[in-house]
Amino acid sequence: MARNASARRVCLIGFMGAGKTSVGRALGRRLGWPFHDLDEVIENRQGKSVAALFAEDGEPAFRRAESAALEDLLTGKNAGGNLVVALGGGGFVQPYNRSVLAKSGVITVLLEAPIDELRRRCVRDGRTRPLAGDEAQFARLFAERHTTYGLARVRVDTMNKPVEQIAGEIEHMIAATAEAEAKE
Ligand code: S3P
Repeated sequence: MARNASARRVCLIGFMGAGKTSVGRALGRRLGWPFHDLDEVIENRQGKSVAALFAEDGEPAFRRAESAALEDLLTGKNAGGNLVVALGGGGFVQPYNRSVLAKSGVITVLLEAPIDELRRRCVRDGRTRPLAGDEAQFARLFAERHTTYGLARVRVDTMNKPVEQIAGEIEHMIAATAEAEAKE
């Protein structure tokens, strides 16, 4: 695996409402590493919101922009340092994105919560999520993606835990992963 010995990169994945952005921000702060929310990166690159991208250009265009943004972040001319990146809920489901993550030696961390809790969080934070739809669509997508999410390197249960506690758990896991790799 092409692993950059001097840089550590962590990618948070999980379904909508998993807490990827807030945990990622807290984790970046704890580690002193830059944090990138991929949806925000896409919005800046494309000059429009994720909701507008879906509505005006369609999901395939959004997925292309998502892959390009991820690849650039991890392998582009400014890539190379430590970083924490939060993927949108569908990012890890795209095989191409998983191959980019694997080639870049990124540690993937799945944030888990039961579906009812994920739905509650999405309703509570009020963000427009083009694929959150109604409850049935939400449940169908969750079921479709479940197995693929299981391919993450590590998993963290987020239920009833404050953001800082989750970030702290991940920080410890990263240290343990780095130690294990050093022994390989
Ligand atoms: C998506 C999740 C969203 C965003 C886009 C598509 C998905 O991100 O990337 O609306 O396919 O699940 P969040 O997981 O941050 O809501």
